[in-house]
Amino acid sequence: MSHVYGGRGVTVASGSGCRIRGTDGREYLDFLAAQGGALFGHAHPDLAAALREAAGNPWTVGLGLDSPARDEFLGYLRTLRPEGKAFLCNSGTEAIEAALKLATSLRPGRGRILAARRAFHGRTMGALALTFNPQYRKAWQHLLLPVEHIAPEDLAGRVDGDVAAVFVEPIQGEGGVYPMPSSVAVALNEACAAHGALLVADEVQSGWGRCGDILASRIVGLNPDVVCLAKGLAGGLPAGAAVWRGDLGDFPAKGHGTTYGGNPLVASVGCAAWKLLHGKLYPRKAFELGRFFRAALAEIRSPLVRDVRGMGLLIGVEVSVKSPDVVRKLQEYGVLALPAGPSVVRFLPPFVAEEADCLAARDALAAALDECSES
Ligand SMILES: Cc1ncc(COP(=O)(O)O)c(C=O)c1O
Repeated sequence: MSHVYGGRGVTVASGSGCRIRGTDGREYLDFLAAQGGALFGHAHPDLAAALREAAGNPWTVGLGLDSPARDEFLGYLRTLRPEGKAFLCNSGTEAIEAALKLATSLRPGRGRILAARRAFHGRTMGALALTFNPQYRKAWQHLLLPVEHIAPEDLAGRVDGDVAAVFVEPIQGEGGVYPMPSSVAVALNEACAAHGALLVADEVQSGWGRCGDILASRIVGLNPDVVCLAKGLAGGLPAGAAVWRGDLGDFPAKGHGTTYGGNPLVASVGCAAWKLLHGKLYPRKAFELGRFFRAALAEIRSPLVRDVRGMGLLIGVEVSVKSPDVVRKLQEYGVLALPAGPSVVRFLPPFVAEEADCLAARDALAAALDECSES
């Protein structure tokens, strides 16, 4: 088995909502939520029902044939951009690859691609080139597409007529939970429009309601030409999407494709997820619960807490000790979280979490930090 798996010493036996249970019988509050993929919680009854129903029909149909479930899902996604077009794939990194190919093919002859410092966009070669962290890139550095990584506040000033695309996260997740200031968003909108560069919002982690709106871009005032979604898009089944302004055009003929992207099984669950977002007003719940959770975390009286920040249910607590150590201690207290860089503890609660769960996570963090100060 590759060393990329495991590492936390928990083998998941079962789970529902925001709780999972290990094969050893231990229960955890799951605010790791599969790196945010389990956005609706585990085994959500509506999503499970959609999956069961779809499982009785063809699971995959490939590209040449149409599917009602795929058409319906594409119909919902298209509403996210004016006269929108959408391409379905299987993961976040594939959504970024699709956006990268699309944007560069729509701006032929332009030689520059910009991204932000601290950015995380995935691990396949195109997405990796857009990702900032040198540790993720170092073995492949010599082979990667040249991408300029610029401090977010300076990005707009570096856009010119040779820039094909600018990739940004409306709130950086992996890079340390940094919401984009509205002034940066507005400047980027204007610079990209002025120079005809395509603005791509990576909403793989922030989108689909997690931050308090279907798109976090809307919250920060970003007006992207292309949006990338994944993680909770189909409740945690492998799914990704690139959605773009229809007037821009499309991939060149034979320029892109996929075997499994948009398969009826995943598309059916994606449709059920869309209906839940609207029927249960989950984005609003994410906004309110996130505000509650951040306020609760800000009550922790520990000298190790430097900052509490985030949007909706994408929350980071910056600490003055190593975040992986705090995450390990949290797990001992029965709460799963994840680091966002070396000094930020990240919480990604699912929509179905409640205030009592947030308070339990807060208390566990306070206890974990107390232990860190003692050692
Ligand atoms: C902002 C962002 N973009 C892209 C990705 C890559 O997604 P995936 O792991 O599904 O390939 C991630 C994953 O964490 C992400 O957070």
